[in-house]
Amino acid sequence: MQVLVHPEASPWQLRLSVPGDKSLSHRALILAAMARGESFLGGLSESRDVRTTLRCLQALGARIRPQADGRVVSGWGPAGPLEPGKVLDCGGSGTTLRLLAGVLAAGRGLAVLSGDSSLRRRPMARIVDPLVRMGARIWGRAGGRLAPLALQGGPLGDLSWQLPVASAQVKSCLLLAGLQAGVRVELREPLPSRDHTERMLKALGVPLECSGGTLRLVGVAELPGFRLSVPGDPSSAAFLVAAAVMNPGARVRIEGVCLNPGRLGFFEILRRMGGRVRWEVTGSELGEPVGWIEAAGSELRGLEVGAGEVPAALDELPLLAVVATRGAGRTRVSGAGELRRKESDRIGCLVGELQRMGARIREQEEGFEVEGPVRLAGGTVRCHRDHRLEMSLAVAALSASGPTRLLGAGFSEVSFPGFWDLLPGHR
Ligand code: S3P
Repeated sequence: MQVLVHPEASPWQLRLSVPGDKSLSHRALILAAMARGESFLGGLSESRDVRTTLRCLQALGARIRPQADGRVVSGWGPAGPLEPGKVLDCGGSGTTLRLLAGVLAAGRGLAVLSGDSSLRRRPMARIVDPLVRMGARIWGRAGGRLAPLALQGGPLGDLSWQLPVASAQVKSCLLLAGLQAGVRVELREPLPSRDHTERMLKALGVPLECSGGTLRLVGVAELPGFRLSVPGDPSSAAFLVAAAVMNPGARVRIEGVCLNPGRLGFFEILRRMGGRVRWEVTGSELGEPVGWIEAAGSELRGLEVGAGEVPAALDELPLLAVVATRGAGRTRVSGAGELRRKESDRIGCLVGELQRMGARIREQEEGFEVEGPVRLAGGTVRCHRDHRLEMSLAVAALSASGPTRLLGAGFSEVSFPGFWDLLPGHR
């Protein structure tokens, strides 16, 4: 689809909530499928990626049915997942493929995990190597480095492993493998990545120790059924917050958002840029802090973002490049090479498109550099089949001086269903 975005004439005054968090929704469904008994999950994300996980779990024997305002999941429990009768299509969802690979490596029978052309380009050695070390039998293209992956489930052994990159998907894959196999897993991460799996497992009584960058799954545990009301996705809230800080007079308040510190890096960086952004924790859900976020039009300045800040802001860094066009001075992001290994090359693609809109932005091997402030001019840009690029470019277009045509839009549904409905008149 093509979308024509006009600059926002009257800046947003919004008070709203955003759809359920995508990372939490994937995990809640998978853990409920592994549990003995029934779970009730409210507020699940209806995004394309999460629906993909749901369909795969059904193919593996979990019974999932809708019920007023949520879904009831009957897990497969200690019997483990069924051998699927067909290839499990993970679409474009790295979280679906990598987390399920952990479960299936310790499952029964043969399972094949595949996905769209972008997912089949993404690196899989980061999960295959440690799973093979545990004794898993896995085959894949390029010597097991690319999907499709075929896994012959079976018993696994203990694992002690140093992750080469900070990745919540890899960490979660290995914890789920350990849990399904009933073995010990010790993981060391170079930097802390989002810890949703750890928080959920602990809340469900799984013996997990976390200290000084080391994580230990220390004993066999059977998951009980549970209830969860999934809070809003901070990565979706980020687009609204960015649109607010970039536009004088705008004001946005988002209620019921997941405020896990490992997801707040972008908001912290905005504050350091002079952004008027605040949040407060008002409750919690299965170990996750929940609360509101507020943002208002701001005077922004450029800044340095180093490797240590990258994991907590990873998915929002393309959006940060957009906001940085409004900051006075230089913004430099480094140590973010992982951005090139997402749904698209999020450094190369974004830099090219923002340059087309008039941004002064330069590509670097592991990041980018933006000079501001610049009023973007609008124009015609491409979305590269990437939901986060599409929404970042939409936010850029709202504060441009002229209209912007987004070619190949329609991918925002991958993580933020209803995104375009928030921008009335922009089709
Ligand atoms: C996710 C982890 C991150 C993130 C992705 C969701 C998760 O990926 O980019 O959108 O839910 O675990 P990596 O763990 O591969 O960095």
